[in-house]
Amino acid sequence: MRTISVFTLLLLWLPIFAQGNTSAKTVTNGEVWLDTSGNPINAHGGGILYHDGKYYWYGEYKKGKTILPEWATWECYRTDVTGVGCYSSPDMVNWTFEGIVLPAVKDNPSHDLHPSKVLERPKVVYNAKTGKFVMWAHVESADYSKAAAGVAVSDSPTGPFEYLGSFRPNDAMSRDQTVFVDDDGKAYQFASSENNQTLYINELTDDYLRPTGRFTRNFIGMSREAPAVFKKDGKYYMISSGCTGWDPNNAELAMADSIMGPWKLVGDPCTGKDADKTFYAQSTYVQPVYGKKDLFIAMFDRWNKTDLENSRYVWLPISFKDGKITIPWRETWSIDEISGQN
Ligand code: GAL
Repeated sequence: MRTISVFTLLLLWLPIFAQGNTSAKTVTNGEVWLDTSGNPINAHGGGILYHDGKYYWYGEYKKGKTILPEWATWECYRTDVTGVGCYSSPDMVNWTFEGIVLPAVKDNPSHDLHPSKVLERPKVVYNAKTGKFVMWAHVESADYSKAAAGVAVSDSPTGPFEYLGSFRPNDAMSRDQTVFVDDDGKAYQFASSENNQTLYINELTDDYLRPTGRFTRNFIGMSREAPAVFKKDGKYYMISSGCTGWDPNNAELAMADSIMGPWKLVGDPCTGKDADKTFYAQSTYVQPVYGKKDLFIAMFDRWNKTDLENSRYVWLPISFKDGKITIPWRETWSIDEISGQN
């Protein structure tokens, strides 16, 4: 009989533990996730676009030192703006870096994308009418007083994106934000407004570049942030966080029959270890997995406020078991072995 050494046995097991291995289909929450070149994935506050059979993950490319300005009266930790990074994947687990698709503008200190500013929560959607990829992001001054939305467009999901400028949608503040395209092709921006106290849903024009002027005020005075929206079986759902800066708090799920509301908070969907702190993370997006019935992945950021580049990701399948919507904690799970009924 051939003998196998302990070393060979260890080697055989290696791919199961390796992140970034092209055959691995395992998500390990809170660990450093590597891209297909072996570099840490840098895409915070991100969102995903599914286009032509591929997933594109866009996020804040946070590089370099985390700074707390001398004048800070609260924990407005930031890194210099580097830009929005993009990764592509055939399977939502193995990600290839596609580059910085909206880079910082280094030579103009008053530009929204100058390194001295803040760029957060980019989301990209595809407009079938114009054939353009449209990015919305939260653009900020270092003291977070600007509270505006920036818009950029591209002909390709991997950029380059052309920055069109920023504004306050419907003349209201716009901080934590996401964009959602409904089945009828209409798009909406969801943004924490009125000093983060009230969440606005702003209907967008057919080209997705501006608000139409139609909007609703939701969760008035309830300070909901970090909206992540999805639709299942004709109903709309939103995961959001409370408002405690980079520190974690508990999540809430909300439901609506109509996208502009009324929205109703229905409780904290998180269960298991550290559920009351959203697993020490904060919502950013929900992405359905195509070809897998009822599989929706809730994406969260586990912020490291004094070293923001080193913030981690927590991705969890949403469970729809027995008609109840929960997000159970899982340290590790495999995309091949899971469905929304788990
Ligand atoms: C959080 C927000 C983050 C970032 C941070 C700054 O509440 O969700 O995206 O803006 O505040 O303190």
